[in-house]
Amino acid sequence: MNTYAMEARLIARPSADLGEEHFEVVRTEIGPPGEGEFLVRNDWMALSVVMRELMAAEPHPELPMSAYELGEPPWAPTVGTVLASRSGGYAAGDLVLHLYGFRDHVLAAEGDETVTKLDPGLLPGPEYHLNQGATAWRGMVEIGRAGPGDTVFVSGASTAVGSVAGQIARCLGAGRVIGSTGSKEKIGYLVNELGFDAAFDYHDGPVAERLAELAPDGIDVFFDNVAGEQFEAALGLAAPHARFALCGSLSGRNPTLDLEPAVLRDVSIRGFTTPYERCDAWIEHYARWVREGRFVFPHTVVEGGVAAAPGALVSQLAGRFRGTALLKLRPAPRVPRRL
Ligand SMILES: NC(=O)c1ccc[n+]([C@@H]2O[C@H](COP(=O)([O-])OP(=O)(O)OC[C@H]3O[C@@H](n4cnc5c(N)ncnc54)[C@H](OP(=O)(O)O)[C@@H]3O)[C@@H](O)[C@H]2O)c1
Repeated sequence: MNTYAMEARLIARPSADLGEEHFEVVRTEIGPPGEGEFLVRNDWMALSVVMRELMAAEPHPELPMSAYELGEPPWAPTVGTVLASRSGGYAAGDLVLHLYGFRDHVLAAEGDETVTKLDPGLLPGPEYHLNQGATAWRGMVEIGRAGPGDTVFVSGASTAVGSVAGQIARCLGAGRVIGSTGSKEKIGYLVNELGFDAAFDYHDGPVAERLAELAPDGIDVFFDNVAGEQFEAALGLAAPHARFALCGSLSGRNPTLDLEPAVLRDVSIRGFTTPYERCDAWIEHYARWVREGRFVFPHTVVEGGVAAAPGALVSQLAGRFRGTALLKLRPAPRVPRRL
């Protein structure tokens, strides 16, 4: 039997701000799985600012992810449930992580390396798998080597990556975790709900001054999602032997590198990419910390299924969400009316 499915296709490349008019939402029909195929009902999908760059006519040539095609639903990290299978590797009920986003069903083929089977008992809910922990772990643990007593600064701390990176530092015993973000409400979120020691709004005057007040003894680890002025301020306050992990450039501004503190204080500065890679060490720590009640999965839920995807992405780009922005693709089950 065929399945009716909704998908949101990118139909025009935005030259300035993204709008809902750059998408069309259509109903399609998917046939039953053929030999070696399995049908997935998508439950949750993650949205990120990087999607805007992937829509450009000429995205940065060194981005380690494929650009979005016109006329197709964009790819996006998605979690779903196998409904029917004619593949030896998958059975109905299996929970899977894949990249076939912006649609509520997909027919996948055995051997597709973008599909991963998940352990449904590992985390409190399927949406918990849509975190940016592999990236946060690489920057905070492998490059930043955050440890007991360190003063850690995370720029873009309420982003999907930053909100996890700061909590990793806290769980590893950092002495002080500081975050920058874009509003008072997000400062409250970082401090009251995620356990940051302090946070500031980068719109509130020179970042170097805000940071000097909050990190009077200098910064040991800097996890940078923003670049520009925030990188310059952090370098000015770097402690001896500080480690800087360069993750992203949300400000779009290349910083000026002041060689004096970098050289005289023996600062290590290293960029990295980990686009949606699996990281076993992260998953093991994440599951344990969540179980122990020490780690919050930072996220915002948008309801409405595929039809809400274009609007949700526009809101994400406008900075309206905190943590990972999650679109719920599976409508809530209808409650039968009492007779
Ligand atoms: N190196 C890697 O492997 C890797 C992997 C994934 C992501 N990244 C990078 O990591 C960064 C965060 O990614 P994400 O997916 O976690 O982001 P995200 O959750 O989509 O971040 C959205 C938030 O970014 C903030 N933002 C937007 N414009 C900004 C600006 N001009 N200055 C400062 N903050 C701004 C807004 O929060 P506020 O209200 O706080 O401004 C917004 O809510 C991005 O630069 C991304 O490209 C790198």
